[in-house]
Amino acid sequence: MSAIEQSFKNVMAWIDDRLPVTEAYEKHLSKYYAPKNLNIWYYFGIFSFVVLANQLLTGIWLTMSYVPTGDDAFASVEYIMRDVEYGWLLRYMHSTGASAFFVVVYLHMFRGLLYGSYQKPRELIWILGMLVYVALMAEGFFGYLLPWGNMSFWGAQVIVSLASAIPVIGDDLAIWVRGDFNMSGVTLNRFFALHVVLVPLFLLVLVVLHVLALHEVGSNNPDGVDIKKTTDDMGKPLDGIPFHPYFTLGKLPAIIVFLFLFCAVLFFYPDGGGYLIEHPNYEPADPLKTPELIAPVWYYTPFYSMLRAATFPLFGLDAKLWGLIVMAGAIVIPFVLPWLDKSPVKSMRYKGLGSKVMLILFVISFFILGYLGTVHPTPGRTVVAQVCTGIYFAYFLLMPWYTAVEKTKSVPERVTM
Ligand code: HEM
Repeated sequence: MSAIEQSFKNVMAWIDDRLPVTEAYEKHLSKYYAPKNLNIWYYFGIFSFVVLANQLLTGIWLTMSYVPTGDDAFASVEYIMRDVEYGWLLRYMHSTGASAFFVVVYLHMFRGLLYGSYQKPRELIWILGMLVYVALMAEGFFGYLLPWGNMSFWGAQVIVSLASAIPVIGDDLAIWVRGDFNMSGVTLNRFFALHVVLVPLFLLVLVVLHVLALHEVGSNNPDGVDIKKTTDDMGKPLDGIPFHPYFTLGKLPAIIVFLFLFCAVLFFYPDGGGYLIEHPNYEPADPLKTPELIAPVWYYTPFYSMLRAATFPLFGLDAKLWGLIVMAGAIVIPFVLPWLDKSPVKSMRYKGLGSKVMLILFVISFFILGYLGTVHPTPGRTVVAQVCTGIYFAYFLLMPWYTAVEKTKSVPERVTM
């Protein structure tokens, strides 16, 4: 052993006596066994990490030149775009990153539905993931106000004033959230604090817990086979391979491809034709000029459609309150998914027709709702939105029934490649 290697070993031993770095490295990387049949659907967790890092880094640099006041916010974003060196790049990396985050997280969640990754013993991973998702929605919402463009202003105005639909406390709650009787610099200032400090802290803690919970029980896989059941004499899973170096290096080419796609949007289509940065946001916030169509960014539009689909009063509650209940319900219901699925198998490969049909209908409805949230409502579109909202909820609420009665295929003992 060379002198350098010996010194490194000594330093590591000194650190390990005080902080078990090597033990953590082995537990979470070199001796963490992941199933060897993981496919492309298992890339989106890593991509989420890449985008999270991008958002945090570009966010810090943007904060150096951004001014969170009603008078200067819009101008400071223009200054970043035109005068700050590479400011345009930082801003587009951050705004494109926000959409990329939702793309990868939605695909990551879909993988969970496809392979039953939320089922026992991974319920907590799912719940922590859902908390990440809600935190991400909050982060996007607060961040969207910051450029203080006209859509920022009116979008936040519509969403915050929804609180006033809540009986008794609603109006006071809306004022409390805004910190003012209308959207103002005070609101902008507090949204800035939440966007750059509170929610990112939550997000980071939740992501760490999410991965720790995953490493406690191990990854699921496309077959839903428990790889810990078949081990060699040393207790190593026969169908598993160490996460490092196989997955860390194996995923590098995929990360590079992902970054290429990300850069393609970033450099050639940063506003996404008005879907990533909406056209009214090129004008400063104006309380006297309502945009022709107020719609949130694409990743919220399925829920926005559900909000608008409630058009009639029911059981003594008015339509606005119903809209709020339906929208909140749609975000909350996936939390209990692990207890709704009664299937004896995890993966869609072995589930019955009922699960497959419902998942397809669910995805189609989610896309349709997403589209409807970007256009003006008409009576016809509202009916479609109501039907799709019904399908969205049916996917969850009928799950205990269709997963219990359908005929499933038998799961193999070992993973299939
Ligand atoms: C910042 C956001 C997130 C990050 C960085 C993240 C990271 C990861 C990583 C690295 C994995 C392991 C690799 C993989 O299975 O792809 C994973 C697994 C998992 N994640 Fe996430 N995740 C995030 C959000 C979410 C959300 C929103 C959900 C769902 C509500 C979720 C649910 C799961 C589940 C169920 C697993 C286990 C999958 C399996 O073993 O089959 N995650 N996550």
